[in-house]
Amino acid sequence: MQLQIAPSILAADFGALAKDIEMLNSAADIIHLDVMDGSFVPNISFGFPVLKAVAGVAGIPMDAHFMVAHPERWAERCASLGIGMFSFHLEAAGTGSADLLQKLRSLGMKAGLVINPDIPVSMLYPYIGKADYFLLMSVFAGFGGQKFMECTYERISMLKAEITRRGDGALIEVDGGITLENAAAVAGAGADILVAGSAVFRAADPPAVISALRNCR
Ligand code: DX5
Ligand code: ZN
Repeated sequence: MQLQIAPSILAADFGALAKDIEMLNSAADIIHLDVMDGSFVPNISFGFPVLKAVAGVAGIPMDAHFMVAHPERWAERCASLGIGMFSFHLEAAGTGSADLLQKLRSLGMKAGLVINPDIPVSMLYPYIGKADYFLLMSVFAGFGGQKFMECTYERISMLKAEITRRGDGALIEVDGGITLENAAAVAGAGADILVAGSAVFRAADPPAVISALRNCR
């Protein structure tokens, strides 16, 4: 399967958001939406007014990454906005994670489970078969523009091996510090979807960077 690129609008120009979304409609595969609550992570990004505005312009699938406490509260509203992919942190949902994954699927969304770099990858294994994708953070969730953590390569390979061993089709998404320099190695380790914020939106030619990321391997 071709590598999919999901630019994060966290690094976009919020004063001209529609223009950036239109650019993504023609250049990217997925629009990655980072929702932060200032509690689960020490930063606040945006919430439903912005998600609704993006949904009004988006022509490609939207992928909401909830870095919030109580992610289960927001599933229905996302489904009704037409958001097709919803991911939440295992650290936030805890023992409620399996139920929330099932709820997301029942609402017609792809269900994603996320972990920060300090959570063992094996903590995801019980959810193989219950999630449509797993999001491995390659920085600690909360801020764009951080440096990619090298330990991520081994984490991707381990998760990929376990998904394959079980004959499951879950995808692996990787988020944080992705650049043209490390994208090929991240994809080579087994990633299916790359999130990129700064690398895309701080570039002189964002569509060219998106295309180069997609063709990196
Ligand atoms: C971090 C977010 C990421 C981030 C990616 O908490 O989940 O999606 O915005 O941005 P870059 O690519 O700049 O690390
Ligand atoms: Zn994200």
